[in-house]
Amino acid sequence: MKAWVIVVLVIIAVGLVWGLKRPVTRDAVQAPADAILFKGASCGCCGVYVDYLQRKGYTLDIRNPADMDGVKAQYGVPSSMQSCHTTVIGGYFVEGHMPQEAITKLLAEKPDIKGIALPGMPMGAPGMPGAKNQPWIVYAVNNDGSTTEFMRI
Ligand code: CU
Ligand code: CU
Repeated sequence: MKAWVIVVLVIIAVGLVWGLKRPVTRDAVQAPADAILFKGASCGCCGVYVDYLQRKGYTLDIRNPADMDGVKAQYGVPSSMQSCHTTVIGGYFVEGHMPQEAITKLLAEKPDIKGIALPGMPMGAPGMPGAKNQPWIVYAVNNDGSTTEFMRI
């Protein structure tokens, strides 16, 4: 084979490998996982939060169970950590009006916990009206039900 043919083949091979590899890497780093979101059928702020997650690229399986308390119990969301809706993603629960950056950190670090919670419905949080007026403390709920600070936003 002539040298230039080999050079062209190598360039094509590198291009193919690069072209195949790059989207996979991008997906692994940036594409949000699929999620199930449980909310009350008539919950307005929950609907706005659904829009927020969908805009961030999450694919949501939205469910409106009659018994939200049962959902919290099933996934182990302590009563002190509860908010209106519960999202289940990557094997974790994500409780409440959680900013995307906390979910990204959770899925990147994969800690051995049940989930994370932003309790209550803080003003200005994604899906909530108003202006942010305090730091939001996101809690990790450990497997024994205890809580520790996961991050502050
Ligand atoms: Cu809410
Ligand atoms: Cu909600």
